[in-house]
Amino acid sequence: MNDKEITDIENRFMANVFSKRPVVLTRGKGALVWDINGKEYLDCATSYGVALLGHCHPKVVAAIRAQAEQLITCHGCYYNDKRAEFIQKLVEITPKGLDKAFLSNSGAESVECAIKLARKYTGKPEIISLMGAFHGKTMGALSATWDKKYREPFMPLVPEFRHVAPDNAEKIREVITEKTAAVLMEPIRGEGGVRVPPDGYLQEVRQICDEKGVLLILDEVQTSFGRTGKLFGCQNWDVTPDVMCLAKPFAGGLPIGITVAKENIMSTLKVGEHSTTFSGSPLVCAAGCAAIDALVEEKLADRAAEIGKYFKAQLEGVQTKHKIIKEVRGLGLMLGMELRFDVHNIILKSQAKGVLVLDAGRNVVRLLPPLVIEKEQIDRAVSILDKVLEEEENERASSTVPN
Ligand SMILES: Cc1ncc(COP(=O)(O)O)c(C=O)c1O
Repeated sequence: MNDKEITDIENRFMANVFSKRPVVLTRGKGALVWDINGKEYLDCATSYGVALLGHCHPKVVAAIRAQAEQLITCHGCYYNDKRAEFIQKLVEITPKGLDKAFLSNSGAESVECAIKLARKYTGKPEIISLMGAFHGKTMGALSATWDKKYREPFMPLVPEFRHVAPDNAEKIREVITEKTAAVLMEPIRGEGGVRVPPDGYLQEVRQICDEKGVLLILDEVQTSFGRTGKLFGCQNWDVTPDVMCLAKPFAGGLPIGITVAKENIMSTLKVGEHSTTFSGSPLVCAAGCAAIDALVEEKLADRAAEIGKYFKAQLEGVQTKHKIIKEVRGLGLMLGMELRFDVHNIILKSQAKGVLVLDAGRNVVRLLPPLVIEKEQIDRAVSILDKVLEEEENERASSTVPN
């Protein structure tokens, strides 16, 4: 099939729920992907933060190959060697005290489990989340998500969810009542615009939750696995939640969701109260073991901290040249560039010139490169973005489009 045939088939037979980019990707290695015609792209999108180890990491590929010959699926009601190995590796790296996990298949599912867990453990219904938050699109996760474009078509959502303004812990204190089970939040809001909270905020929220006897659930679906320069985003502020939601990169690119909690909290879920058919399949767990090994052995969180500073500094350099950039922000290799207008065109133009980036809301270009990205590749990505922004600035200057 050629690119036109592939595009036609997907458009005809797949639900039209993705804002499609005009490219057919067929191959990837490290920080690079190639389209069906052999054109190379620098991948600063990593499938929305999945390919943190880069594409087709050799350890992950070898583990999948070997496990595929052994056993691919094995329901959670049976024991399995790879599942045991994975869960042991996982709890070795999770913050102290978070050592009992439920395995699922996606970020939204990891949030669903956390919501059920909070209600079951506390016997209370209410969940507080933040304005600007994104937690996924299943009904429970969607109820915690903020943007009305995702929510409104599906009302009524799950009851007893409240949103409060972010970055001000007192706002959380004000709304906690006798009915509150948990505060659910991302350490850094990703989809909400790559918003790093002010120092002290997360510690204060932790303290308020402790004072009020409310659980703190951190959605680390986008901020974990070394992305922010620490294995888990919360470690940037030395905060440990009661429950943590993980997903995207933890199985080297295969689908996974993980809800990890303190033992006494997770143990309130009894047999049959929560499950999913694919929970901890051997193939996914084998890939997950290899992914965690690569993360730890290659010291990729430290690498993200160091090279992320370099990437951010380069983007700040670009900012000094273009008035259309309002702010550059982020931590580690989770970076955002806020523009003064809608970024859709910038994303398409960057792609045409060979670099894949994401949006985060209407006017933020989000960069989620793999932790293995090289300095030379960062320079290349920055130079392409610089050119795209220059062209956009010139076009806007010579037209009536407002800046
Ligand atoms: C913070 C956060 N939580 C939850 C999700 C939902 O994950 P999934 O798309 O795997 O359901 C996402 C997805 O981008 C996310 O960024």
